[in-house]
Amino acid sequence: MWNFPLLPEQASTVAPHVDLLYFFQVGVSLFFSVLIFATILYFTYHYREGSNIDRSRPIAQSLLLETTWMGIPFVFGMIMFFWGAALFYVDYEAPPGALDVSVVAKQWMWYIQHSQGRAEINELHVPLGQPVKLTMTSQDVIHSFYIPAFRVKQDVLPGRYTSLWFEPTKVGRYHLFCAEYCGTNHSAMGGWVEVMEPADYERWLAEGGTGPSMAQEGEKLFVQHHCAGCHRGSQTVHAPRLEGVFGKSVPIQEGKDVHFVTADVTYIRDSILRPKSQVVAGFEPLMPSFEGQISEPDLLRIIAYIKSIAGEETPQ
Ligand code: CUA
Repeated sequence: MWNFPLLPEQASTVAPHVDLLYFFQVGVSLFFSVLIFATILYFTYHYREGSNIDRSRPIAQSLLLETTWMGIPFVFGMIMFFWGAALFYVDYEAPPGALDVSVVAKQWMWYIQHSQGRAEINELHVPLGQPVKLTMTSQDVIHSFYIPAFRVKQDVLPGRYTSLWFEPTKVGRYHLFCAEYCGTNHSAMGGWVEVMEPADYERWLAEGGTGPSMAQEGEKLFVQHHCAGCHRGSQTVHAPRLEGVFGKSVPIQEGKDVHFVTADVTYIRDSILRPKSQVVAGFEPLMPSFEGQISEPDLLRIIAYIKSIAGEETPQ
């Protein structure tokens, strides 16, 4: 694939597509800018004062001309819209089976943890040729996770999860930036993404020691915060079991009505921090809020645990 030297490398599957759309838009803008300026110059010269031009029959209306100057930009506008929308949809949802990585932003660093358990700061190691999905949140203000070589950027917000995915296509080291002004050291809030051969990545993960995985850490926290007392085992309090829940549709009681929501990362997070906002149909709103009691990295670990038991049968 050709590469314009002013741009960063194209190192992900979407990068060439993003660039193509970009150059198309630049091309269209350039073409019309040149056309309009040339026309202005031509008319300025041609109809200048004192030039010998026939001005006896000024044109009042031209349907053909008007249709043309509305029709052509309309077509170009629609091409950009549908092309951009198609790309956006590809970019929006990670393909199934993508590698899960958690990102917590804070002033002024990136804390990153792999589902296998290894954590790193301001660095992200990923294997070549495999989709990687980041689940991101912030501990303070709004940040933005930006990897120019992958042509991906996503805001990272406090109080909610956003996600970002990419599939690296080249081994190498690529800049990582914070792209949202977040205070004094915003410009220093960056790092590197290291794309490795899959075998090297496995070796790198193993170098981190044989510590617990995120799901195992999450299970420990699940017990520590006394979630297990109600959500598992011989419970005295009637609470929904969480095996097999992740990714499924959950019935939510709202007044007299029941509606369904998908038990994704956002739903689990809200259920822990604001349990009364979404009470599962058939259960009492008894759960206390854990707002302010569990750190962002720990929340992600608990969610990783609940996700890890998604394949299990829901006990009755
Ligand atoms: Cu974080 Cu700018």
